[in-house]
Amino acid sequence: EATAPKAEPKKAAARPDVQTVTHVHHWTDRLFSFRVTRPASLRFRSGEFVMIGLMQTDPKTGKEKPLLRAYSIASPSWDEEMEFYSIKVQDGPLTSRLQHIKEGDEIILRPKPVGTLVHDALLPGKRLWLFATGTGFAPFASLLREPQTYEDYDEVVITHTCREKGELAYGAALIEEIKKDELLHELMGPDFHEKIRYYPTTTREESPKMGRITDLLRSGEVFSDLGIEPINPETDRAMICGNLAFNLELKAMLEEYGLVEGANSDPQHYVVEKAFLD
Ligand code: A2P
Repeated sequence: EATAPKAEPKKAAARPDVQTVTHVHHWTDRLFSFRVTRPASLRFRSGEFVMIGLMQTDPKTGKEKPLLRAYSIASPSWDEEMEFYSIKVQDGPLTSRLQHIKEGDEIILRPKPVGTLVHDALLPGKRLWLFATGTGFAPFASLLREPQTYEDYDEVVITHTCREKGELAYGAALIEEIKKDELLHELMGPDFHEKIRYYPTTTREESPKMGRITDLLRSGEVFSDLGIEPINPETDRAMICGNLAFNLELKAMLEEYGLVEGANSDPQHYVVEKAFLD
């Protein structure tokens, strides 16, 4: 029919990477998570990141262009939607605006996933350590919902160090949800959740376990609390995601335990990625 709408394909071609927000949850005044529609053709590996953002007007040219930042995908590779976990920086170019998104709003998502926090970059092992600070929990929220994580390892230790208790809420709620998840139970069997050892710590507010994970590893407290042997390259694999100082310090410690850094092209004992801030 000659009267078929012409405007729509043109609009879609001009903005091919638009996705729609389906859910927003504010965890604290500084942290929120949100879900968006997933591009039908997008494949990614649990633990990878993509560029996401909002359109903004260039003050010089007056033209609209995307303002994008790297965000770890917090949802697993099998999920119909995509989830992200973000800090809110009041004067941050992107998150000052992104924190106000609501269900039905549009965001830009470049469907080119990349990253090193993937199973492919690690050699087979018995125990997987996921070390996070702050929003560095995001890629692990993906990997903890990925069946391969439990297929590949006998035990999965997830440590999360934050300044305050409230900042642990997203991770704590997610782990509770995973332990009850029917699909994961169907896929993985009734006992898979017993492999998860959750080890949250705070540094600036009273909580059941206080201190930086680096200090708790050095003192041996983590191992005695969990009733496990210290980290060694025969059995242990690790992924690190947090602020830069944390990543560097923990990387040096893992090297002291004898672990070697891996990459997609050269799987080894551990991998590192920084949590991207505004
Ligand atoms: P601390 O409060 O002792 O600095 P941030 O919010 O600054 O990104 O920090 C998140 C968490 O990571 C905080 O609990 C912080 O502890 C901790 N942290 C910061 N730097 C390091 C480091 N080099 N090693 C271990 N933990 C760190």
